[in-house]
Parts: sequence; C-alpha cells; structure tokens
Amino acid sequence: MAFENLLTTIENGILTITINRPDKLNALNKKTVEEIGAAIKNAESNDAVKALIITGSGPKSFVAGADISELLGLSIEQGRVLSRSGQIVFKSIESCSKPVIAAVNGFALGAGCELSMACHIRVASENAKFGQPEVNLGLIAGYGGTQRLIQYIGKTKALELHLTGDSINAEQALSLGLVNYVVPQDQLISKCLELLEKIKSKSPKAITSVINSVNAYFENNIDGFNTEVEEFGKCLATEDFKEGTSAFVEKRKAHFIGK
Ligand code: COA
Repeated sequence: MAFENLLTTIENGILTITINRPDKLNALNKKTVEEIGAAIKNAESNDAVKALIITGSGPKSFVAGADISELLGLSIEQGRVLSRSGQIVFKSIESCSKPVIAAVNGFALGAGCELSMACHIRVASENAKFGQPEVNLGLIAGYGGTQRLIQYIGKTKALELHLTGDSINAEQALSLGLVNYVVPQDQLISKCLELLEKIKSKSPKAITSVINSVNAYFENNIDGFNTEVEEFGKCLATEDFKEGTSAFVEKRKAHFIGK
C-alpha cells in the first residue's frame, strides 16, 4: 500500500513504518495520522507482518509534534475531533495484537512523544529528546499524552514536563523509565530488530495476551482521555493559543495574556 507521508518495508516479518516529512521534522499533519491508522489496520490483517517498528525519517527527528500549521484557526469542535481521531489511531497502536517498537531517532516532542508512548517498547538514539511542549503554544497534549506520560513516569515528573514544556534527553528518559534502551544512532534499528527477533520467537498468541492484559490495567481510565479531548478543544478558542501558534510560525517569543 502506497502512502503520501509514510515509507513502509516488510523484511523478515517486521514491518517498518517511517514517518517521512523530514523538512517538517516529521510533524504529524492530519493526513499522516490517518495514514498511520491505515498502516496499523493493514498490519493487523496481514499475516506476513509479525511485528512493527515505527520511526522517523532523517537523523534529527522522530516526530516534532502535531503540525502546528494545521492547528491555526480550528474551532473548539474541530479541536475535539482532531484530538479524538488522533487518540483513536494511537490507541490502535497501543492495542495492536503484534508488538510495536518506537525507534526514536531524534526529537519526540508533543505528538511525537505521544506516538512513542503508544508503542509497546521505546528504543532511543543518544540524540533523542522527549517532551510535551504544547503549553508554549497555549495548548495541551491531545493524542493521549496527558494520560500516558503519567503511566510511564508517574505524576511528579509528568506534571513537571507538561507544566514547564521542558524536554529531556535520552539518558534522562531512560532513568525516568520512559524508554527501554538508549543506543548510538547507527545501532538504533539493529537494537529494535534484536528485541523483536526475541519477541517473535515466542507464541504470538501469548504475546497478544500480554499486550491485552497489560493494557487492561489502565483501561478504567477512559474519563481522563475524554477530559483531554474537552480541554484540548477549549484551548483552541483562547487568545493565548492564537498568540502561541502565531509566535511559533513567526519565529518569535509568545506573550500570553491569560485569555
Ligand atoms: N509543526 C509544523 N512544523 C514544524 C513543527 C511542528 N510541530 N516542528 C518543526 N516544524 C518545521 C519548522 O517550522 C521548520 O519549517 P521551515 O523550515 O519551513 O521554517 C522545520 O520544521 C525545521 O524546524 P526548525 O524549528 O527550523 O528546527 P530547529 O532544529 O531549529 O528546532 C524544534 C527544532 C523541534 C526544537 C522546533 O522545530 C520546535 O520547537 N518545533 C515545535 C515543537 C512543538 O511545539 N511540538 C508540539 C506541537 S503541538
């Protein structure tokens, strides 16, 4: 299946999905999110696919966030729809019956951090950076980030990262438990393949059962995802959001007024 913004290869039962907008640091526009959803759906039904890797194109960025240029001018309702549809695609990764590893090859900011967190395992290259910088735009995470970051690193650090918008490097992400391994960039894919070869040697039925069972631990958390959709939508109607996104596009510092 051909995609506009994804490259896909299948080798030895492993489907590699590469987000391919390097000029925009692989920022996720609507089309790319839809294509990720379609690629995961195909992978579920394709018996030739035993496991997946999701990565970004180029040496600098996994995904630098949602595409900010597409957020400008959205209504509250359009914001809710965007957030909900992203959550659905990311949930399809998290609940994929086949193991999915994020090969984080650089910036994993905003939706990039959220995408990596929807995967079952994260392997980061030494130059990787993780963060939820949406507050800098007058916004919040909208693709599950407010719910998943806390699951991986706990409330203390999750709140700090969401509130400050600061990013952390790969070693910090490792010590917080956000990533499983940090490796030199030229060993990123080989480390993912090594892990997936081991997982592939186990019973696929048991692997699916592990994924379903571990996910079930968090599944009474539905309200949190709904709250995120509502709050994400509300942010889009604020003057601060207009200022934050305009400042990004105009490459200047934002001045928020609290309206
Ligand atoms: N949405 C849209 N475009 C983005 C983007 C995003 N999230 N992140 C980067 N880009 C674009 C830049 O606008 C730039 O495009 P241009 O060359 O047409 O001007 C290009 O990608 C390269 O980015 P640039 O900012 O020049 O690279 P940098 O190395 O100086 O900085 C980042 C890298 C990741 C620190 C910076 O791009 C950034 O802060 N991005 C936004 C992160 C963010 O807020 N994500 C959450 C969004 S909700």
